[in-house]
Amino acid sequence: MSVQPPLRPRTGASVSARSIRGGPRLPWLRVLVVLASLLTPLAAAQAPATGGTVASRDGLLVVAGATGRTGVHVVEHALRKGYQVRVLARRPEAARERFGNRVQIVAADVRDAATLGPALAGATWVIASLGSSQGRDPTYVPDEVEYQGTRRLVEAAKAAGVRHFVMITAMGVTQPDHPLNRASRNVLLWKALGENTLRFSGLDYTIVRPGALLDGPGGERLTVSQGDQFRDWERPRNEFPAIDRADLALVTVEALGRPPLRARTFEVTSERVRGAVDWDALFAGLKPDRGPPAPRPAAMAPPR
Ligand SMILES: NC(=O)c1ccc[n+]([C@@H]2O[C@H](COP(=O)([O-])OP(=O)(O)OC[C@H]3O[C@@H](n4cnc5c(N)ncnc54)[C@H](OP(=O)(O)O)[C@@H]3O)[C@@H](O)[C@H]2O)c1
Repeated sequence: MSVQPPLRPRTGASVSARSIRGGPRLPWLRVLVVLASLLTPLAAAQAPATGGTVASRDGLLVVAGATGRTGVHVVEHALRKGYQVRVLARRPEAARERFGNRVQIVAADVRDAATLGPALAGATWVIASLGSSQGRDPTYVPDEVEYQGTRRLVEAAKAAGVRHFVMITAMGVTQPDHPLNRASRNVLLWKALGENTLRFSGLDYTIVRPGALLDGPGGERLTVSQGDQFRDWERPRNEFPAIDRADLALVTVEALGRPPLRARTFEVTSERVRGAVDWDALFAGLKPDRGPPAPRPAAMAPPR
């Protein structure tokens, strides 16, 4: 498997795929410092956002990971909002069974770049809710999906001229000592490198890092934060910051085309009480990520 050259953030340090493939013998501190620095909000580095309006629901939304537990909610909410949806599925028959004829379905696997060009052709928006699974996949290699797969998807999106790419990752991706890295072959660090491929792609993007995912009905009040600060992963899982997958899906769809979310990375959790969400208020005040991309205000401008 080929290894991409390290991405170089503005700090001049580097994060290398090779450095995390080996597991726990790694230079964690270096990786941690570099990743943390990437995520430091730097408001002055970016063009100001242009208000809280949604750009447009015109155009085709491609959902990757649509057959997943969050992805199905993403598709259903996008359809309710009036988006035209194409599902990228490695099991098209499962997608057809779930969504019927309400969506386009394209067979594609992010481990196979050749499948992604056709899947992304003509796309305006992308939501990626991909996740590798140790339980489902006996040949589990998280970097093939979380990093290389994301990189391939981002490249295909770029080639297709996508206007906004919204990606789900996870709280804790900047934390090498997170228990999930020990348990699942550094899966969070591979997700972090996947984030970087999007962050440095030149695409307009938003990265959403949920807390622990639950299968409740949603409809709860939400909180956002930045900087991946929560670190108390040794507490019982039922005490983790969490969010229902149904609510996470709303966040990704509501994020589409919002200029104030351009080049933003944020964590999202539920307050565990039911309540309506004021999306403009929720997203107000999020700071842009440090570093590229250059401002592209026209691409996400609201309709005239
Ligand atoms: N579980 C948690 O508590 C938690 C917490 C924070 C963040 N997250 C992250 O949140 C995201 C959504 O989680 P989830 O539980 O909803 O995910 P999920 O149910 O595991 O769904 C993952 C999706 O990715 C697809 N996929 C996997 N490998 C693929 C490949 N090679 N090519 C194309 N599609 C592929 C799966 O397709 P198939 O249906 O064909 O398998 C499925 O549709 C994931 O990134 C996850 O890591 C999870």
